[in-house]
Amino acid sequence: MQIGQFSTAAPPADTQFEAELTPTVITSCIMAATGGLMFGYDIGISGDVTSMDDFLIKFFPKVYRRKQEKVDNNYCKFDNQGLQLFTSSLFLAGLTATFFASYTTRKLGRRVTMLIAGIFFILGVIFSGAAQNLAMLIVGRILLGCGVGFSNQAVPVFLSEIAPTRIRGLNILFQLNITVGILFANLATYGTSRLHPWGWRLPFSLAGIPAILVTLGGLFVVDTPNSLIERGHLNEGKAVLKKMRGTDDIEFELNQLIEASRVSHRVKHPFCNLLLRRNRPPLIIAILLQMFQQCTGINMIMFYTPVLFRLVGFKSDAALYSALITGMVNVLSTLVSTYFIDWVGRRLLLLEAGLQMFLSLVVITVVFGVKITDNSDKINQGYAVLVLVMACIFVAAFAWSWGPLGWLIPSEIFPLETRSAGQSVAVCVNLLCTFVVAQAFLSTLCHLKYGVLAFFAGCVIVMSLFVLFFLPETKNVPIVEMTERVWKKHWYWKRFMDGDETTFEDDVRQTVA
Ligand code: BGC
Repeated sequence: MQIGQFSTAAPPADTQFEAELTPTVITSCIMAATGGLMFGYDIGISGDVTSMDDFLIKFFPKVYRRKQEKVDNNYCKFDNQGLQLFTSSLFLAGLTATFFASYTTRKLGRRVTMLIAGIFFILGVIFSGAAQNLAMLIVGRILLGCGVGFSNQAVPVFLSEIAPTRIRGLNILFQLNITVGILFANLATYGTSRLHPWGWRLPFSLAGIPAILVTLGGLFVVDTPNSLIERGHLNEGKAVLKKMRGTDDIEFELNQLIEASRVSHRVKHPFCNLLLRRNRPPLIIAILLQMFQQCTGINMIMFYTPVLFRLVGFKSDAALYSALITGMVNVLSTLVSTYFIDWVGRRLLLLEAGLQMFLSLVVITVVFGVKITDNSDKINQGYAVLVLVMACIFVAAFAWSWGPLGWLIPSEIFPLETRSAGQSVAVCVNLLCTFVVAQAFLSTLCHLKYGVLAFFAGCVIVMSLFVLFFLPETKNVPIVEMTERVWKKHWYWKRFMDGDETTFEDDVRQTVA
Protein backbone atom coordinates (compact mmCIF):
# COMPACT_ATOMS: atom_id res chain seq x y z
CA MET A 1 0.00 0.00 0.00
CA GLN A 2 1.40 3.41 -0.98
CA ILE A 3 1.23 6.67 0.84
CA GLY A 4 -0.49 8.18 -2.21
CA GLN A 5 -3.59 6.09 -1.53
CA PHE A 6 -4.46 8.39 1.34
CA SER A 7 -5.34 12.02 1.41
CA THR A 8 -2.11 13.66 2.44
CA ALA A 9 -3.12 17.21 3.25
CA ALA A 10 -1.20 18.16 6.37
CA PRO A 11 -3.15 19.76 9.15
CA PRO A 12 -1.78 22.91 10.75
CA ALA A 13 1.23 22.51 13.05
CA ASP A 14 -0.75 22.62 16.25
CA THR A 15 -3.19 19.93 15.18
CA GLN A 16 -3.58 17.02 17.56
CA PHE A 17 -4.99 13.70 16.52
CA GLU A 18 -8.49 13.63 17.92
CA ALA A 19 -8.35 10.04 19.05
CA GLU A 20 -10.64 8.40 21.55
CA LEU A 21 -9.51 6.41 24.54
CA THR A 22 -10.85 3.13 23.15
CA PRO A 23 -11.31 -0.21 24.97
CA THR A 24 -8.43 -1.67 22.89
CA VAL A 25 -6.09 1.04 24.12
CA ILE A 26 -7.25 0.61 27.71
CA THR A 27 -6.88 -3.19 27.79
CA SER A 28 -3.57 -3.12 25.93
CA CYS A 29 -2.22 -0.54 28.37
CA ILE A 30 -3.35 -2.51 31.41
CA MET A 31 -1.81 -5.73 30.14
CA ALA A 32 1.44 -4.14 29.06
CA ALA A 33 1.84 -2.18 32.25
CA THR A 34 2.06 -5.40 34.25
CA GLY A 35 5.77 -5.24 33.34
CA GLY A 36 5.94 -2.38 35.85
CA LEU A 37 4.24 -4.59 38.45
CA MET A 38 7.04 -7.10 38.25
CA PHE A 39 9.76 -4.44 38.37
CA GLY A 40 8.15 -2.89 41.45
CA TYR A 41 7.75 -6.25 43.14
CA ASP A 42 11.45 -6.96 42.67
CA ILE A 43 12.36 -3.57 44.12
CA GLY A 44 10.05 -3.93 47.11
CA ILE A 45 11.05 -7.43 48.02
CA SER A 46 14.81 -6.80 48.21
CA GLY A 47 14.71 -4.63 51.27
CA ASP A 48 11.86 -6.44 52.94
CA VAL A 49 13.19 -9.99 52.98
CA THR A 50 16.52 -8.79 54.28
CA SER A 51 14.75 -7.80 57.46
CA MET A 52 13.41 -11.36 57.94
CA ASP A 53 15.60 -13.23 60.42
CA ASP A 54 15.02 -16.65 58.83
CA PHE A 55 16.22 -15.31 55.50
CA LEU A 56 19.32 -13.78 57.07
CA ILE A 57 20.11 -16.97 59.02
CA LYS A 58 19.93 -19.06 55.83
CA PHE A 59 21.84 -16.81 53.43
CA PHE A 60 23.63 -14.12 55.44
CA PRO A 61 24.41 -15.61 58.90
CA LYS A 62 27.15 -13.01 59.50
CA VAL A 63 24.67 -10.15 59.14
CA TYR A 64 22.26 -11.96 61.41
CA ARG A 65 24.89 -12.36 64.14
CA ARG A 66 25.91 -8.71 63.86
CA LYS A 67 22.26 -7.69 64.10
CA GLN A 68 21.97 -9.52 67.44
CA GLU A 69 25.14 -8.06 68.91
CA LYS A 70 25.47 -4.68 70.49
CA VAL A 71 27.84 -3.00 68.03
CA ASP A 72 30.01 0.12 68.31
CA ASN A 73 28.41 1.80 65.37
CA ASN A 74 24.70 1.52 64.62
CA TYR A 75 25.17 2.93 61.14
CA CYS A 76 27.32 -0.07 60.19
CA LYS A 77 25.09 -2.90 61.42
CA PHE A 78 23.96 -3.90 57.92
CA ASP A 79 27.13 -3.04 56.01
CA ASN A 80 27.70 -6.29 54.11
CA GLN A 81 28.81 -6.60 50.47
CA GLY A 82 26.95 -9.92 49.98
CA LEU A 83 23.70 -8.44 51.20
CA GLN A 84 24.14 -5.47 48.90
CA LEU A 85 24.99 -7.78 46.00
CA PHE A 86 21.75 -9.67 46.59
CA THR A 87 19.86 -6.42 46.04
CA SER A 88 22.03 -5.03 43.26
CA SER A 89 22.69 -8.12 41.07
CA LEU A 90 19.21 -7.81 39.59
CA PHE A 91 19.97 -4.34 38.29
CA LEU A 92 23.34 -5.32 36.87
CA ALA A 93 21.69 -8.15 34.90
CA GLY A 94 18.90 -5.80 33.81
CA LEU A 95 21.22 -3.21 32.38
CA THR A 96 23.06 -5.82 30.33
CA ALA A 97 19.80 -7.31 29.06
CA THR A 98 18.45 -3.97 27.92
CA PHE A 99 20.90 -3.85 24.98
CA PHE A 100 19.58 -7.15 23.66
CA ALA A 101 16.11 -5.84 24.34
CA SER A 102 16.74 -2.82 22.15
CA TYR A 103 17.37 -5.21 19.25
CA THR A 104 14.29 -7.34 19.91
CA THR A 105 12.07 -4.28 20.40
CA ARG A 106 13.05 -3.01 16.98
CA LYS A 107 13.29 -6.25 15.02
CA LEU A 108 10.71 -8.52 16.68
CA GLY A 109 8.38 -5.90 18.09
CA ARG A 110 7.29 -4.58 21.48
CA ARG A 111 4.95 -7.53 22.14
CA VAL A 112 7.54 -10.29 21.63
CA THR A 113 9.98 -8.38 23.82
CA MET A 114 7.38 -8.39 26.61
CA LEU A 115 6.93 -12.13 26.12
CA ILE A 116 10.68 -12.72 26.49
CA ALA A 117 10.56 -10.65 29.69
CA GLY A 118 7.70 -12.80 31.03
CA ILE A 119 9.66 -16.01 30.45
CA PHE A 120 12.72 -14.65 32.26
CA PHE A 121 10.49 -13.55 35.13
CA ILE A 122 8.93 -17.01 35.52
CA LEU A 123 12.36 -18.69 35.56
CA GLY A 124 13.64 -16.12 38.06
CA VAL A 125 10.69 -16.73 40.38
CA ILE A 126 11.30 -20.49 40.32
CA PHE A 127 14.98 -20.12 41.19
CA SER A 128 14.49 -17.58 43.98
CA GLY A 129 11.47 -19.25 45.58
CA ALA A 130 13.22 -22.64 45.62
CA ALA A 131 16.71 -21.31 46.51
CA GLN A 132 18.78 -23.73 48.58
CA ASN A 133 21.90 -21.62 48.72
CA LEU A 134 23.20 -18.15 47.97
CA ALA A 135 24.28 -19.10 44.43
CA MET A 136 20.75 -20.23 43.52
CA LEU A 137 19.32 -17.10 45.06
CA ILE A 138 21.64 -14.88 43.01
CA VAL A 139 20.91 -16.84 39.78
CA GLY A 140 17.22 -16.18 40.47
CA ARG A 141 17.93 -12.46 40.91
CA ILE A 142 19.92 -12.40 37.65
CA LEU A 143 17.06 -14.04 35.71
CA LEU A 144 14.60 -11.58 37.22
CA GLY A 145 16.98 -8.78 36.24
CA CYS A 146 17.00 -9.97 32.62
CA GLY A 147 13.21 -9.83 32.71
CA VAL A 148 13.37 -6.28 34.02
CA GLY A 149 15.79 -5.29 31.24
CA PHE A 150 13.44 -6.58 28.51
CA SER A 151 10.23 -5.33 30.05
CA ASN A 152 11.44 -1.85 31.00
CA GLN A 153 12.66 -1.45 27.45
CA ALA A 154 9.44 -2.45 25.73
CA VAL A 155 6.64 -1.34 28.05
CA PRO A 156 7.17 2.45 28.28
CA VAL A 157 7.66 2.68 24.51
CA PHE A 158 4.57 0.52 23.93
CA LEU A 159 2.47 2.75 26.18
CA SER A 160 3.66 6.01 24.64
CA GLU A 161 3.07 4.71 21.13
CA ILE A 162 -0.49 3.56 21.61
CA ALA A 163 -1.70 6.43 23.79
CA PRO A 164 -3.40 9.30 21.96
CA THR A 165 -1.27 12.46 22.21
CA ARG A 166 -3.49 14.38 24.57
CA ILE A 167 -3.35 11.56 27.12
CA ARG A 168 0.21 10.39 26.68
CA GLY A 169 0.40 10.60 30.47
CA LEU A 170 -1.23 7.16 30.17
CA ASN A 171 2.36 6.02 30.19
CA ILE A 172 2.11 6.66 33.90
CA LEU A 173 0.39 3.29 34.20
CA PHE A 174 3.88 1.82 34.06
CA GLN A 175 4.95 3.79 37.11
CA LEU A 176 1.62 3.14 38.83
CA ASN A 177 2.21 -0.56 38.43
CA ILE A 178 5.76 -0.21 39.76
CA THR A 179 4.35 1.32 42.93
CA VAL A 180 1.60 -1.30 43.22
CA GLY A 181 4.28 -3.98 42.77
CA ILE A 182 6.35 -2.47 45.58
CA LEU A 183 3.31 -2.34 47.86
CA PHE A 184 2.32 -5.89 46.94
CA ALA A 185 5.85 -7.02 47.92
CA ASN A 186 5.62 -5.08 51.20
CA LEU A 187 2.30 -6.74 51.99
CA ALA A 188 3.54 -10.20 51.06
CA THR A 189 6.57 -9.87 53.30
CA TYR A 190 4.58 -8.38 56.15
CA GLY A 191 2.00 -11.15 55.91
CA THR A 192 4.53 -13.98 55.85
CA SER A 193 7.11 -12.67 58.30
CA ARG A 194 5.62 -14.76 61.12
CA LEU A 195 5.81 -18.07 59.24
CA HIS A 196 8.99 -19.72 60.47
CA PRO A 197 11.42 -20.79 59.14
CA TRP A 198 10.31 -20.78 55.49
CA GLY A 199 8.11 -17.66 55.43
CA TRP A 200 10.62 -15.81 53.21
CA ARG A 201 9.96 -18.27 50.35
CA LEU A 202 6.38 -17.07 49.97
CA PRO A 203 7.06 -13.47 48.93
CA PHE A 204 9.53 -14.79 46.35
CA SER A 205 7.01 -17.30 45.03
CA LEU A 206 4.10 -14.86 44.97
CA ALA A 207 6.08 -12.92 42.36
CA GLY A 208 4.84 -15.72 40.09
CA ILE A 209 1.49 -13.89 39.84
CA PRO A 210 2.83 -10.73 38.16
CA ALA A 211 5.29 -12.90 36.19
CA ILE A 212 2.41 -14.86 34.68
CA LEU A 213 0.48 -11.65 33.98
CA VAL A 214 3.44 -10.22 32.04
CA THR A 215 3.70 -13.45 30.02
CA LEU A 216 -0.02 -13.39 29.24
CA GLY A 217 0.33 -9.73 28.21
CA GLY A 218 3.16 -10.74 25.89
CA LEU A 219 0.97 -13.45 24.36
CA PHE A 220 -2.27 -11.56 23.90
CA VAL A 221 -1.59 -7.87 23.51
CA VAL A 222 -1.51 -6.50 19.92
CA ASP A 223 1.68 -4.78 18.89
CA THR A 224 1.73 -1.03 18.32
CA PRO A 225 0.92 0.30 14.84
CA ASN A 226 4.35 2.00 14.87
CA SER A 227 6.12 -1.29 15.39
CA LEU A 228 3.95 -3.24 12.92
CA ILE A 229 4.50 -0.68 10.18
CA GLU A 230 8.19 -0.42 10.96
CA ARG A 231 8.46 -4.21 10.52
CA GLY A 232 6.61 -4.16 7.20
CA HIS A 233 3.12 -5.27 8.33
CA LEU A 234 1.37 -2.28 6.83
CA ASN A 235 -2.18 -3.63 6.55
CA GLU A 236 -2.11 -5.04 10.06
CA GLY A 237 -0.69 -1.77 11.35
CA LYS A 238 -3.49 0.17 9.66
CA ALA A 239 -6.16 -2.14 11.08
CA VAL A 240 -4.71 -1.90 14.58
CA LEU A 241 -4.49 1.88 14.33
CA LYS A 242 -8.17 2.11 13.34
CA LYS A 243 -9.17 -0.13 16.21
CA MET A 244 -7.06 1.72 18.70
CA ARG A 245 -8.22 5.17 17.64
CA GLY A 246 -11.86 4.06 17.33
CA THR A 247 -12.27 5.80 13.97
CA ASP A 248 -11.64 5.23 10.25
CA ASP A 249 -10.24 8.71 10.00
CA ILE A 250 -6.63 7.79 10.65
CA GLU A 251 -5.04 8.79 7.37
CA PHE A 252 -2.89 11.61 8.62
CA GLU A 253 -1.54 9.68 11.57
CA LEU A 254 -1.02 6.61 9.40
CA ASN A 255 0.92 8.60 6.82
CA GLN A 256 3.12 10.01 9.50
CA LEU A 257 3.80 6.52 10.84
CA ILE A 258 4.58 5.20 7.36
CA GLU A 259 6.99 8.01 6.70
CA ALA A 260 8.50 7.68 10.17
CA SER A 261 9.14 4.04 9.44
CA ARG A 262 10.66 4.83 6.01
CA VAL A 263 13.07 7.24 7.65
CA SER A 264 13.70 4.72 10.39
CA HIS A 265 14.74 2.08 7.82
CA ARG A 266 17.40 4.39 6.50
CA VAL A 267 19.03 4.26 9.91
CA LYS A 268 21.28 1.24 9.98
CA HIS A 269 22.92 1.89 13.33
CA PRO A 270 20.44 3.44 15.75
CA PHE A 271 22.99 3.75 18.56
CA CYS A 272 25.39 5.73 16.31
CA ASN A 273 22.46 7.77 15.09
CA LEU A 274 21.75 8.76 18.68
CA LEU A 275 25.01 10.69 18.66
CA LEU A 276 24.02 12.91 15.73
CA ARG A 277 23.92 16.54 16.70
CA ARG A 278 20.15 16.84 16.35
CA ASN A 279 19.62 13.84 18.63
CA ARG A 280 21.77 15.19 21.40
CA PRO A 281 19.07 17.13 23.26
CA PRO A 282 16.79 14.11 23.81
CA LEU A 283 19.79 11.92 24.57
CA ILE A 284 21.23 14.26 27.19
CA ILE A 285 17.82 14.82 28.77
CA ALA A 286 16.98 11.10 28.90
CA ILE A 287 20.33 10.26 30.51
CA LEU A 288 20.16 13.06 33.05
CA LEU A 289 16.53 12.46 33.99
CA GLN A 290 17.22 8.83 34.79
CA MET A 291 20.38 9.70 36.73
CA PHE A 292 18.59 12.41 38.65
CA GLN A 293 15.68 10.09 39.38
CA GLN A 294 18.03 7.83 41.29
CA CYS A 295 19.91 10.77 42.84
CA THR A 296 16.75 11.77 44.68
CA GLY A 297 17.63 8.89 47.01
CA ILE A 298 14.26 7.19 46.48
CA ASN A 299 15.79 3.75 46.52
CA MET A 300 17.44 4.17 49.89
CA ILE A 301 13.81 4.28 51.05
CA MET A 302 12.48 1.56 48.73
CA PHE A 303 15.32 -0.89 49.42
CA TYR A 304 16.34 -0.04 52.90
CA THR A 305 13.32 1.39 54.74
CA PRO A 306 13.34 -1.49 57.23
CA VAL A 307 17.04 -0.86 57.91
CA LEU A 308 16.54 2.90 58.29
CA PHE A 309 13.61 2.48 60.62
CA ARG A 310 15.44 -0.02 62.75
CA LEU A 311 18.11 2.65 63.06
CA VAL A 312 15.61 5.10 64.50
CA GLY A 313 14.60 2.48 67.02
CA PHE A 314 11.62 0.65 65.50
CA LYS A 315 11.42 -3.09 66.11
CA SER A 316 11.42 -5.55 63.17
CA ASP A 317 7.63 -5.49 62.92
CA ALA A 318 7.32 -1.73 63.11
CA ALA A 319 10.05 -1.36 60.51
CA LEU A 320 8.13 -3.58 58.07
CA TYR A 321 4.99 -1.70 58.94
CA SER A 322 6.70 1.59 58.06
CA ALA A 323 7.69 0.13 54.69
CA LEU A 324 4.00 -0.64 54.18
CA ILE A 325 3.03 2.95 54.96
CA THR A 326 5.57 4.47 52.55
CA GLY A 327 4.45 1.88 49.98
CA MET A 328 0.83 3.03 50.26
CA VAL A 329 1.77 6.70 50.04
CA ASN A 330 3.75 5.83 46.91
CA VAL A 331 0.74 4.26 45.18
CA LEU A 332 -1.75 6.96 46.18
CA SER A 333 0.51 9.83 45.13
CA THR A 334 1.20 8.19 41.78
CA LEU A 335 -2.55 8.06 41.24
CA VAL A 336 -2.67 11.79 41.87
CA SER A 337 -0.16 12.39 39.13
CA THR A 338 -2.15 10.35 36.60
CA TYR A 339 -4.57 13.21 36.75
CA PHE A 340 -2.09 16.10 36.85
CA ILE A 341 0.62 15.15 34.35
CA ASP A 342 -1.26 16.11 31.19
CA TRP A 343 -2.95 19.02 32.87
CA VAL A 344 -0.37 20.85 34.98
CA GLY A 345 2.53 19.74 32.78
CA ARG A 346 5.84 18.07 33.45
CA ARG A 347 7.96 21.03 34.56
CA LEU A 348 5.72 22.35 37.29
CA LEU A 349 5.33 18.94 38.90
CA LEU A 350 9.10 18.38 38.90
CA LEU A 351 9.83 21.79 40.40
CA GLU A 352 7.23 21.55 43.15
CA ALA A 353 8.40 18.06 44.04
CA GLY A 354 12.02 19.22 44.13
CA LEU A 355 11.20 21.70 46.87
CA GLN A 356 9.15 19.17 48.84
CA MET A 357 11.84 16.47 48.61
CA PHE A 358 14.60 18.91 49.59
CA LEU A 359 12.78 20.09 52.72
CA SER A 360 11.88 16.58 53.88
CA LEU A 361 15.42 15.32 53.33
CA VAL A 362 16.82 18.23 55.32
CA VAL A 363 14.54 17.43 58.28
CA ILE A 364 15.48 13.72 58.18
CA THR A 365 19.18 14.62 57.98
CA VAL A 366 18.91 16.88 61.01
CA VAL A 367 17.05 14.25 63.08
CA PHE A 368 19.60 11.58 62.16
CA GLY A 369 22.49 13.96 62.75
CA VAL A 370 21.35 15.22 66.12
CA LYS A 371 19.53 12.23 67.55
CA ILE A 372 21.29 9.10 66.34
CA THR A 373 24.63 8.74 68.00
CA ASP A 374 26.90 5.90 66.98
CA ASN A 375 25.80 3.51 69.67
CA SER A 376 22.48 4.92 70.87
CA ASP A 377 19.95 2.16 71.06
CA LYS A 378 16.81 4.12 70.52
CA ILE A 379 15.72 7.67 69.80
CA ASN A 380 12.69 9.34 71.26
CA GLN A 381 9.51 7.86 69.75
CA GLY A 382 8.34 11.32 68.66
CA TYR A 383 11.42 11.82 66.50
CA ALA A 384 11.06 8.36 65.01
CA VAL A 385 7.51 9.22 63.97
CA LEU A 386 8.73 12.56 62.57
CA VAL A 387 11.19 10.63 60.37
CA LEU A 388 8.35 8.41 59.15
CA VAL A 389 6.15 11.43 58.32
CA MET A 390 9.01 13.13 56.46
CA ALA A 391 9.76 9.91 54.56
CA CYS A 392 6.10 9.85 53.47
CA ILE A 393 6.24 13.50 52.34
CA PHE A 394 9.39 12.71 50.39
CA VAL A 395 7.92 9.59 48.76
CA ALA A 396 4.71 11.45 47.84
CA ALA A 397 6.69 14.16 46.04
CA PHE A 398 8.77 11.60 44.17
CA ALA A 399 5.69 9.62 43.23
CA TRP A 400 3.94 12.47 41.48
CA SER A 401 7.01 13.74 39.69
CA TRP A 402 10.38 12.10 39.16
CA GLY A 403 8.94 8.59 39.43
CA PRO A 404 6.57 8.68 36.45
CA LEU A 405 8.30 11.47 34.54
CA GLY A 406 11.68 9.76 34.66
CA TRP A 407 10.08 7.12 32.42
CA LEU A 408 7.54 9.18 30.50
CA ILE A 409 9.75 11.98 29.19
CA PRO A 410 12.48 9.77 27.64
CA SER A 411 9.82 7.67 25.94
CA GLU A 412 8.22 10.70 24.25
CA ILE A 413 11.17 12.83 23.15
CA PHE A 414 13.02 10.52 20.74
CA PRO A 415 11.98 10.22 17.08
CA LEU A 416 10.99 6.73 15.87
CA GLU A 417 14.33 5.90 14.26
CA THR A 418 16.16 6.24 17.57
CA ARG A 419 13.33 5.51 19.99
CA SER A 420 14.33 1.95 20.87
CA ALA A 421 17.99 2.86 21.17
CA GLY A 422 17.14 5.97 23.21
CA GLN A 423 14.91 4.00 25.51
CA SER A 424 17.68 1.41 25.94
CA VAL A 425 20.08 4.08 27.04
CA ALA A 426 17.47 5.47 29.44
CA VAL A 427 16.73 2.06 30.97
CA CYS A 428 20.41 1.26 31.16
CA VAL A 429 21.25 4.50 32.98
CA ASN A 430 18.33 3.91 35.35
CA LEU A 431 19.45 0.39 36.18
CA LEU A 432 23.10 1.39 36.44
CA CYS A 433 22.32 4.16 38.92
CA THR A 434 19.92 1.89 40.81
CA PHE A 435 22.69 -0.70 40.97
CA VAL A 436 25.10 1.88 42.41
CA VAL A 437 22.60 2.96 45.08
CA ALA A 438 21.79 -0.65 45.99
CA GLN A 439 25.43 -1.70 46.12
CA ALA A 440 26.83 1.35 47.85
CA PHE A 441 24.14 2.67 50.17
CA LEU A 442 24.73 0.53 53.25
CA SER A 443 28.53 0.98 53.08
CA THR A 444 28.17 4.71 52.45
CA LEU A 445 25.74 4.98 55.37
CA CYS A 446 28.35 3.27 57.54
CA HIS A 447 31.08 5.74 56.52
CA LEU A 448 29.24 9.01 55.89
CA LYS A 449 26.41 8.37 58.39
CA TYR A 450 23.68 11.03 58.01
CA GLY A 451 25.93 12.82 55.48
CA VAL A 452 24.55 10.45 52.85
CA LEU A 453 21.11 12.04 53.34
CA ALA A 454 22.59 15.52 52.98
CA PHE A 455 24.21 14.36 49.73
CA PHE A 456 20.81 13.42 48.28
CA ALA A 457 19.37 16.77 49.41
CA GLY A 458 22.19 18.53 47.49
CA CYS A 459 21.43 16.47 44.39
CA VAL A 460 17.79 17.54 44.54
CA ILE A 461 18.85 21.20 44.28
CA VAL A 462 21.02 20.50 41.24
CA MET A 463 18.29 18.55 39.44
CA SER A 464 15.66 21.21 40.12
CA LEU A 465 17.95 23.85 38.58
CA PHE A 466 18.36 21.61 35.54
CA VAL A 467 14.59 21.37 35.16
CA LEU A 468 14.22 25.12 35.56
CA PHE A 469 16.69 26.00 32.82
CA PHE A 470 16.98 23.04 30.48
CA LEU A 471 13.89 20.89 30.49
CA PRO A 472 11.32 21.96 27.88
CA GLU A 473 7.60 21.33 28.44
CA THR A 474 6.39 18.41 26.30
CA LYS A 475 2.80 18.25 27.53
CA ASN A 476 0.35 17.84 24.61
CA VAL A 477 3.02 17.93 21.91
CA PRO A 478 2.62 15.09 19.35
CA ILE A 479 5.76 12.97 19.30
CA VAL A 480 6.38 13.65 15.61
CA GLU A 481 6.31 17.41 16.19
CA MET A 482 8.90 17.56 18.95
CA THR A 483 11.56 19.21 16.80
CA GLU A 484 9.39 22.03 15.49
CA ARG A 485 7.44 22.75 18.62
CA VAL A 486 9.93 21.97 21.33
CA TRP A 487 13.59 21.78 20.39
CA LYS A 488 13.61 24.57 17.79
CA LYS A 489 11.92 26.91 20.24
CA HIS A 490 14.02 26.21 23.33
CA TRP A 491 16.54 28.92 24.25
CA TYR A 492 19.38 26.43 24.62
CA TRP A 493 18.56 23.30 22.64
CA LYS A 494 17.66 25.18 19.45
CA ARG A 495 21.37 25.52 18.63
CA PHE A 496 21.47 21.75 18.02
CA MET A 497 18.76 22.04 15.39
CA ASP A 498 20.40 24.54 13.07
CA GLY A 499 22.78 22.16 11.25
CA ASP A 500 22.46 20.98 7.66
CA GLU A 501 21.01 17.61 8.59
CA THR A 502 17.31 17.55 7.79
CA THR A 503 15.42 16.47 10.85
CA PHE A 504 13.24 13.42 11.06
CA GLU A 505 10.10 15.51 11.29
CA ASP A 506 11.19 17.64 8.33
CA ASP A 507 11.31 14.47 6.29
CA VAL A 508 7.88 13.47 7.52
CA ARG A 509 6.42 16.89 6.82
CA GLN A 510 7.86 17.10 3.33
CA THR A 511 6.37 13.76 2.34
CA VAL A 512 3.05 14.21 4.04
CA ALA A 513 2.47 17.81 2.90
C1 BGC B 1 12.18 4.06 39.85
C2 BGC B 1 12.57 3.03 40.85
C3 BGC B 1 11.89 3.34 42.18
C4 BGC B 1 10.39 3.44 42.00
C5 BGC B 1 9.69 3.84 43.27
C6 BGC B 1 10.69 4.09 39.72
O1 BGC B 1 10.33 5.06 38.80
O2 BGC B 1 12.78 3.79 38.59
O3 BGC B 1 13.97 3.02 40.99
O4 BGC B 1 12.16 2.36 43.12
O5 BGC B 1 10.09 4.38 40.99
O6 BGC B 1 8.32 3.96 43.08
